[in-house]
Amino acid sequence: MSLGGLWLLTQGITQGGLPILLLQGVAAAAIGRVFGLSLLWVPVQVLLPLAVVYNSSVPSWVYPAALVFCLLIYWNSASEQVPLYLTNRRTWKALSDMVEASKAQSFVDLGSGIGGVVTYLAGAHPALKAIGLETAPLVFLASRVRVMLARRANAQVIYKSIWDEDLSAHDIVYCFLSPVPMPRMFAKAKAEMRPGTLFISNSFAVPGEEPTRVIDVADGRKTKLYVYTM
Ligand SMILES: C[S@@+](CC[C@H](N)C(=O)[O-])C[C@H]1O[C@@H](n2cnc3c(N)ncnc32)[C@H](O)[C@@H]1O
Repeated sequence: MSLGGLWLLTQGITQGGLPILLLQGVAAAAIGRVFGLSLLWVPVQVLLPLAVVYNSSVPSWVYPAALVFCLLIYWNSASEQVPLYLTNRRTWKALSDMVEASKAQSFVDLGSGIGGVVTYLAGAHPALKAIGLETAPLVFLASRVRVMLARRANAQVIYKSIWDEDLSAHDIVYCFLSPVPMPRMFAKAKAEMRPGTLFISNSFAVPGEEPTRVIDVADGRKTKLYVYTM
């Protein structure tokens, strides 16, 4: 499309007012979802056209406030290169099957996000001690509230760096991080975890290490769980 055409389209959308802008945002979000974009992008896509058109009427303090809000959520994205995305329900079930099969008594989610894995496993396995470690302030707070509302006495989310945890305390160590910390985290797991216990990584294999097993989860994003028996 030419620049002139794009200008005309923008003018048309702008003059169509709020309903057209909302429609455009909702359509973008729907197309994104069809192509597999995470749910987290929905508010961004819905609000973007409104932000472009009405940005001059937004008070200036909103921008630094939004930055602080994002920082409190994506706290570890820059330092650890680990963003926030969440394990889905089908993968919770696959993890639950592994807890069952291995008769695990203790499970830790390294970087537990908003606590979905921990809450689910604690509910499905009342004898399991399910622990989450998280350091992004708002995410940690949300997971604490979630665990509290779920009333799971065997679930706990701790404000603690994943690098400070003694992994020998757990029968299953689970992580959904990024490719960057995997070599260092696996070296830590090998040094600390007890023989026969399981290190499970969602989506990110450890470079140069053969997993004991790879589980293909039957979900939309074709999740792979890389399982390493210590
Ligand atoms: C991809 S998310 C996974 C969330 C959750 N495990 C799940 O699967 O639903 C990774 C999480 O790890 C957290 N994280 C990254 N580095 C961390 C660190 N050093 N200590 C504690 N948490 C960390 C991030 O804040 C983020 O919430």
